Amino acid sequence: MRLRSVAPALLLAAALAGPFACADRDVEAGEELLKELGSDDFRNSYSRPPGWDRRLRGDSPHGFWIDVYINDIMVEAIDANVPIDAWPIGSRVVVEGWATEDDEERDFLVVMDRPTSTDSWFWAEWGDEDALVYAGDGVSHCVVCHDEGEDKIRSFLLPPLTGQ
Ligand code: HEC
Repeated sequence: MRLRSVAPALLLAAALAGPFACADRDVEAGEELLKELGSDDFRNSYSRPPGWDRRLRGDSPHGFWIDVYINDIMVEAIDANVPIDAWPIGSRVVVEGWATEDDEERDFLVVMDRPTSTDSWFWAEWGDEDALVYAGDGVSHCVVCHDEGEDKIRSFLLPPLTGQ
C-alpha cells in the first residue's frame, strides 16, 4: 500500500482507529459522493477552473501532479462574472492526484462539495485504491490550510476574474 497522501500519518491513524472512532470519516456520505462522481463521469462532464486547463504540478503540500475539475454550477458563476463572496449551493471541486505527469493510476482524490449551504463545505479524501480517508463537514485537517483561500478555495479566485 502506498502511503502518499495529504497526511500519511493521519491516514495511518485513521486506519488504526477504525471508522467508529473518527467524526471526520462519514463512511456512508463518502461512499455516496464517490458513487455520484462515478455516475457523473466527472473527467468528461466537469470543466477546468481558470489556470488549471491540464494536469499541473500542485504548489501545495498535496505535493503531486493534480487535475482540478469544477462542476457546471461553478462554471456558471464564473461565466456570470458577477462579484460573489461564496460559491453557490451545488458547487463541487474535484482533484485527482498523480505521482507523475502521465501517470494513469490515481494516487488520491479530494473533493470539496457544497450540497446544502454556503456556510461550509463537505470535505472528502480517498487514498490508494479509493480507500476513504476523510469525509465530513468542516474537517479541521483540511480547513486549517484552506482557510487561507477565498471561500476556502486555494487554486483559483472567486468571480469576478480579472484576466488570471
Ligand atoms: C497543508 C495544506 C493543505 C491541506 C491539509 C489540505 N489542502 Fe487541499 N489544497 C491545498 C492547496 C495549496 C491547494 C491548491 C492546489 C495546489 O497548489 O496543489 C489545495 C487544493 C485543493 C482542492 C482544489 C480546490 C482548491 O481549494 O484549490 C481541493 C478540492 C482540496 N484541496 C481538498 C482538500 C481536502 C478534502 C483536504 C483534507 C482531506 C485538503 N484539501 C487538505 C492545501 C491543503
